[in-house]
Amino acid sequence: MQNKSGKAVVARVLLPAGLELLEQRFEVSQGGLDVTREQLEEMVPGAIALVPDPSVPVDGELLDLCGEQLEVVSNFAVGYDHVDLEACSDRGIVVTNTPGVLTEATAELALMLTLSAGRLAGDAERDLRSGLWTGWNPGAYLGLELRGATVGVVGLGRIGLRYAEMVSALGAEVLYTASSRKVEAEKQFGFGWTDLEDLLRRSQVVSIHAPGGEGTRGMIGRRELELIGPEGVLINTSRGTLVDSDAVAEALEEGRLAAAGLDVYDGEPAVPESLLSAPRCVLLPHIGSASHISRDGMARLAAENAIAVVDGLEPASRVV
Ligand code: GLV
Repeated sequence: MQNKSGKAVVARVLLPAGLELLEQRFEVSQGGLDVTREQLEEMVPGAIALVPDPSVPVDGELLDLCGEQLEVVSNFAVGYDHVDLEACSDRGIVVTNTPGVLTEATAELALMLTLSAGRLAGDAERDLRSGLWTGWNPGAYLGLELRGATVGVVGLGRIGLRYAEMVSALGAEVLYTASSRKVEAEKQFGFGWTDLEDLLRRSQVVSIHAPGGEGTRGMIGRRELELIGPEGVLINTSRGTLVDSDAVAEALEEGRLAAAGLDVYDGEPAVPESLLSAPRCVLLPHIGSASHISRDGMARLAAENAIAVVDGLEPASRVV
């Protein structure tokens, strides 16, 4: 092992599985969960490796504050829409992320939201807790069964594909849309490729697995919700920017959408008031990858990527 040299800045926190590796190689400082931009700007000068998470915007200004010795932005997440890739490339800084290790946890969470939103578990539990449950009612909380339902998967990357396999195993027909066709998955699982508009029209469940960023901002707005229609269930475990939250809340209030299950929000941790009070909506606090296995895997991979770049090796998962 090389001698400990150089400074690594973890913008917020890294779990021990990764932190211990990082500390063997670098002098490490962590900003903590409540770090402010100002505090981060004071911490980063001299860093050779910067480890942000999805709540930390990494822009040219921050990179310049780190200084010319900065070699790597090792993102502690798979999504990197908060990192200005062009600014990194322009400065010769490598960007890495943590794909693969969180696929199972995130696909399972999307499945959980599909089942809990589709079966109105959020409303049912809230009613029970607040004393509104008055007994077994054959007409109450009627929801969706996956067998025979059409599930539309928007984005068939690792997580979208795993989710598609899961709902398919429960008897759903899968349609997908993606930037490129996945012929193997079509052959192996019988998934059908189509465009977004057709998918929205034909699916009872629409689950979003596309990346965030300007290219996908507002992908699901009023018009798209009309296409999903009053029998439809919308699931989002990718990034909040893809979905117009107010439009979702309005559609739920007005009975133009059957249910929604959301784990991510534009501007999180703020959650729009309209969604908090909307019916038939299960809301989670961005916990897609929150299993012990996944979060340890992410922390380890983020540390290994940072160390590899500084050691002059190719990191396992390079973005640019
Ligand atoms: C979490 O949101 C991730 O992108 O890993």
